[in-house]
Amino acid sequence: MANRIPIVVGNWKLHKTISESSELVTELKNQLGTVRDVQIGVCPVFTSLAAVTKRLEDSNIMVGAQNSFYENSGAWTGEVSAEMLVDAGCDFVLVGHSERRAKFGDTDADVSRKARAALDAGLRVIICCGESESERDAGKTNERVGQQISAAMDVLKADDLEKVVVAYEPVWAIGTGRTATPAQAQEVHAFIRGLLGDRFGAAGTGIRLQYGGSVKPANAQALMSEPDIDGALVGGASLKVADFVAIVKAARPG
Ligand code: PGA
Repeated sequence: MANRIPIVVGNWKLHKTISESSELVTELKNQLGTVRDVQIGVCPVFTSLAAVTKRLEDSNIMVGAQNSFYENSGAWTGEVSAEMLVDAGCDFVLVGHSERRAKFGDTDADVSRKARAALDAGLRVIICCGESESERDAGKTNERVGQQISAAMDVLKADDLEKVVVAYEPVWAIGTGRTATPAQAQEVHAFIRGLLGDRFGAAGTGIRLQYGGSVKPANAQALMSEPDIDGALVGGASLKVADFVAIVKAARPG
């Protein structure tokens, strides 16, 4: 993991009411409140953001949204802007999650615009990428991930880089219980780090790369021990306090 600070983030997806969210983060704060060697974040649904940010004020746990829009205001029914997320107390946002890409039509261009708008609003961003099962089977993993990363890199500037994290999440591993092996994940992470380094030099190589897709306590340590895997983006297991706490602890260096 070199000297990059590990980062573990829970993506709660479409789960938890306001009171359930508050209860979950209160417990996470109790159990993870003293962890300083891993950066920790949670992504509740929009309606829980205000309650969760209040509950986590002055804590080491960051709050992010699962999506945001690229315009700040206007006639865009149903959207939430990055500036509004800042107003709600968010630290960061996920862009380009594969569920947004597959089910809501987010293109590489949309993801880039969302990332740019989020950075301009002062948020950190986690840019998600990953190939589908058919792309992997066709030997097109690097091609697809390369397109996604290139489109995102086109909108990044040198002084954004420390606010950027990339999450590699093979679509076939998300919510399926079928995790990429540490070696499979490492191979793609090394490829992504190479692209970032080629474009941005040392600052690009320093961007942290998370793995996501059926991460759980039983596989977290093996995945995060790989040299280019700097943390995890956790879906299902982030809804269970004990599992999420165990995954954060598995990310601790040394
Ligand atoms: P999962 O989801 O851990 O439930 O596979 C990961 C994600 O979609 O970010």
